[in-house]
Parts: sequence; C-alpha cells; structure tokens
Amino acid sequence: MGVEKIEIRKPEGNLGVLLVGLGAVSTTFVAGIEAVRKGLGEPFGSLTQMGTIRLGKRTEKRVPRIADFVPLVPMEDLEFAAWDPFEDSAYEAAIKSGVLEEPLLEKLRPELEDLKPFKAVFDKRYVKKLDGTHVKQGKTKMDLADQVIEDILRFKEEKKVDSLVMVWCGSTEIFIKAQEVHASVEKFEAGLRANDVNIPSSMVYAYAALKLGIPFANGAPNLTVDVPAMQQMALERKVPICGKDFKTGQTMMKTIIAPGLKARMLGLSGWFSTNILGNRDGEVLDDPESFRTKEESKLSVLEYILQPDLYPQLYKDFYHKVRINYYPPRKDNKEGWDNIDIFGWLGYPMQVKIDFLCRDSILAAPLVLDLALFMDLARRSGLAGVQEWLSFYFKSPMTAPGLYPEHDLFIQLMKLKNTLRHIAGEEQITHLGLDYYD
Ligand SMILES: NC(=O)c1ccc[n+]([C@@H]2O[C@H](COP(=O)([O-])OP(=O)(O)OC[C@H]3O[C@@H](n4cnc5c(N)ncnc54)[C@H](O)[C@@H]3O)[C@@H](O)[C@H]2O)c1
Repeated sequence: MGVEKIEIRKPEGNLGVLLVGLGAVSTTFVAGIEAVRKGLGEPFGSLTQMGTIRLGKRTEKRVPRIADFVPLVPMEDLEFAAWDPFEDSAYEAAIKSGVLEEPLLEKLRPELEDLKPFKAVFDKRYVKKLDGTHVKQGKTKMDLADQVIEDILRFKEEKKVDSLVMVWCGSTEIFIKAQEVHASVEKFEAGLRANDVNIPSSMVYAYAALKLGIPFANGAPNLTVDVPAMQQMALERKVPICGKDFKTGQTMMKTIIAPGLKARMLGLSGWFSTNILGNRDGEVLDDPESFRTKEESKLSVLEYILQPDLYPQLYKDFYHKVRINYYPPRKDNKEGWDNIDIFGWLGYPMQVKIDFLCRDSILAAPLVLDLALFMDLARRSGLAGVQEWLSFYFKSPMTAPGLYPEHDLFIQLMKLKNTLRHIAGEEQITHLGLDYYD
C-alpha cells in the first residue's frame, strides 16, 4: 500500500532566526554558523547537517543525508536577529561568554559585531540575578508585545527574509505554574492588557511570534508556550511550537544511560547528580526560584524512563537528587558528576560513576540550528501546535494534554526519523525484519 505524501512547500528564500537572549548559547550558535560558512569548522552535533536516515529495507541500501531527504533551508541562507537586556553585540557577548577562543572570534568579528540586540522585554521580577538596562518601556505587556512585532517586521524587511522562527535562548525565569490567565487566548490577551503578574517576559515574545505565525521553540524550562492559551493560539494560527529546555550535558547522559539499565532490568536505588558551572546561566540558576524551574525539568526524566509503577521491585523508591553549583572559575566548561547505585541478580549492589567534562554551549548550539531548521520544515509541511517529534532536543518535552512525555533518547530519535519519513511519504521502519528470513 502506498504511503500518503504530505505536500511540503519549498523553502522560499532566507530564513530569519529570532534569538531571544544573546548569551553563551546564542553567540556560540551564530559564531558557529559563520565559522562553518567560512570553512573554519564543522557543524558536529547537528543531526540536520551530519545525520542520515535509512529508507526501506536494509538490503536497499538507501541512506540519504537528512538534509538531502527533506527540503531544509541551507545553513548559508540563515539571517539572525536577537533581543537582550544588555547592549553587547554578538562579538562582545561571545567574548564575555568565554566559550569560543578569541582568535576564532577575531576572524568572525565583522559578522558578529553586526548582530546587535534589540531592546529586551525584561522584568527583573522574573530573572532576579540580572540587572539589564537595554529594556523596552511600555504601559502594558500588550504594548511590549506590539514593540516586539515591530522589531520582527523591521528585521524581515531589512534583511529580506521570507520566513522566520523564534528560539528562546534567554535566561531561565522563576518558577510559575499555569493559572487562569493562561487558560485561553481571550484571558491571556486580557492579562497582557492588565499587566498580569503571571505573564513573564518569555510569554510576551512567544505571543508576538505566534501572532505573526512564527514557530516558537523554547530552550529554557520556563512555561512560556506550555500553557493552553499558547497551544490554542498555535493551533488556530497553524503554527508549530515546541519545548522545553535544551537537552544537553547531564540530562542527555541520563536519558542515554537510564534506558540501558532498564532494558537489562537492572534496579536503581539512587542517582545523585551534581554540577559545577560558572557561566551567566549558572549565576542565574544560583537563585533558588530560577533553580526550581530547572530542577522540575531535570527530576522528572528518570521517573518517566524507568516507569516505577510498572517495575516496582526495580524502581519504586530510588533516591534522585540534582544539584547545580555556581562556580565562576569553570565558566562555560561544566563538570557534572553522577553517582548511580544500581542492583542486579539477587539484589547485589553495583555502582556507576560518570564524570562528564562538558561544554554546555558547544552541546547546545547545534540543537538551536536543528530546531530552527526543523521548525521551519514543520511549518512548511502544515504541522501545527506541539511538535512532539522534536522531544529529542528537550529535557521536558511538551506533549498533548494527558499524554506522558517520552524521554528515552533512542525512542525520541526513532520518533523524529519516523516523522521525517511520514512527512516525505516513506514507509515507517518498525525494525521487525522477519521478511529477511522468509
Ligand atoms: N547551555 C546549555 O547547555 C543549556 C541547556 C539547557 C537549557 N539552557 C538554557 O538556555 C538558556 C540560555 O543559556 P545560556 O548559557 O546562553 O545563558 P546566558 O546567561 O549566557 O544567556 C542568556 C541571555 O538571555 C538574556 N536574557 C535574560 N532575560 C531576557 C529577556 N527577557 N529577553 C531577552 N534576553 C534575555 C541574558 O541577558 C543573557 O544574555 C538558559 O535559560 C539556559 O538555562 C542552556
């Protein structure tokens, strides 16, 4: 039986990537793209640039590059805009972030100096550790959203971009639970006009993006688009949204190791994770209210993967602790330790120790690229609302109401590739393989 092919509109021209926050992740992303364009580096870590996808049977040997299989915008055709409560250009912000080496940044200086952030929608109430002054003024949050819309339209005109995506790479905001004001578009718009305290800055940007039909990906654990009002707006306006919280570092490791332990039915009695990091993100997370947002995002991963309700003898009472310690000398070069207490045959205990000397923004930058390209593809393919197939990139994947998120990195990858096959009208791969033995 043939597989129905979705009509994918071709990329129309340049793609504008709207970055909220011009800090370590954003500048490493933009500098990385410029470096690749100049032949100074390779886009390692990016599935859209490096990945392949198997089609049909193993005997067919059809394994195109993902970039050749679905019509993604080429890296050469990206343009960038950003907002930040600090005035630094991407060059100055990249130097301060201390991720990429200065000799490399020097070679990219003109391009990076060209990227100057718009004034931010920023309120210290939601990010307590920052004192930015490059900030928009407006009577209401609706006025501020209108100013973001003006920025976007001006950028679109000036840079002659045809389509746009917005990626939140701003700081982690304080913990907020969904409230009545987030329950519908109508209530949310009334809340914007009334300066409702439960509408943090991130939601003002997201609202502006959705209003213009621009896909929104959330790289931080903030609620942002993970509330009914935004999801309703996304569906009504046929806009893809996804989040939350880029899956890099320790949580990525967790979602690689935990499925393996579970696959072998090895039990878990405790998992202690601790980190030191010294970048601005670490400083923001030093505030207990911002940390709480992050902690919620990091803790749920093991519960969902290990399914203690299905395997009580193995996973019922495991102890899980996550700590983040701000330690300036390390800058962006985080060190994450995991001590994992497991048990096997007859309950005999064993331990796994992981010491991951990772570079946070080096791991996050390719995710920004993939999300921008895949979200644009989703829009051109007519996909709207929550893009669960992009769970692969997030610590706290958004799902339809009532559905639990899939955290296992390998299931997430299978889901992502099967979605690409679905979009392109190719058969799904089930890995059954019995027909090879007929
Ligand atoms: N680096 C990673 O591996 C990783 C992984 C998961 C999530 N994240 C999240 O991604 C985000 C960015 O991380 P980073 O390391 O680049 O942090 P960063 O502190 O270097 O950059 C964040 C930038 O956002 C700006 N900002 C804060 N509030 C803003 C607002 N309202 N509007 C516009 N800009 C605003 C800050 O001034 C800062 O320049 C953080 O929320 C972080 O928790 C990062």
